[in-house]
Amino acid sequence: MTMSGLRLTSPTAELAEQFLTWRHRPDVTRWFLQQRIEHTEEYVADWAAYDDHDHHRVVAVLDGAMVGQATLGVVDGMGQSGNEAEFVGREGRLSYFVHPDHAGRGIATALAREALANAFGRLGLRRVQAGCFADNVASWRVMEKLGMRREQHGVKDSFHTEFGWVDGYTYALLAEEWRE
Ligand SMILES: CC(C)(COP(=O)(O)OP(=O)(O)OC[C@H]1O[C@@H](n2cnc3c(N)ncnc32)[C@H](O)[C@@H]1OP(=O)(O)O)[C@@H](O)C(=O)NCCC(=O)NCCS
Repeated sequence: MTMSGLRLTSPTAELAEQFLTWRHRPDVTRWFLQQRIEHTEEYVADWAAYDDHDHHRVVAVLDGAMVGQATLGVVDGMGQSGNEAEFVGREGRLSYFVHPDHAGRGIATALAREALANAFGRLGLRRVQAGCFADNVASWRVMEKLGMRREQHGVKDSFHTEFGWVDGYTYALLAEEWRE
């Protein structure tokens, strides 16, 4: 259950500025691959234009404060040449962040649910995939709550700054499974 006062909305430059005030906290980056993003004018301006053909983002606002976001990148699936319409630009890659002060209250689940609804609804994608460190329990719990399937347990396939080579998981969901 999410709390009252939570609103899911489109990205803006102002929400990007708020995100950058907590994006680099150690408790946020601990289990994330991309450790730093540059705080440039381009990055902030990009947020407002983020809903282009291959990137989509949904932002969580709680009582006026930016508390999370989910991003969906559109990528090519795999397939044999001659059938490009089937797989080019038909897959999504999902990732999400929630402000640590608001963790454990269902915000990431609400964001990811909205991102999946967009992916399989208006974007017409056929498959969405996401990866995480196996020890990032909160992250894979979100995916399991939404019915995503653990398709890969990679043994020591992911490098972590503090822990070295550790296990990773890949989760995925098909459009027809979402519709069920
Ligand atoms: C991962 C993250 C997005 C989760 O956000 P959140 O809003 O707390 O997620 P939700 O509240 O929707 O769900 C989290 C679930 O994990 C569970 N959980 C959290 N930590 C846990 C732990 N250490 N052990 C077991 N379960 C845990 C929660 O209880 C909850 O499950 P439940 O509803 O069945 O009780 C957030 O912690 C975050 O932004 N982390 C930093 C960035 C990151 O790692 N992103 C994902 C990269 S793959």
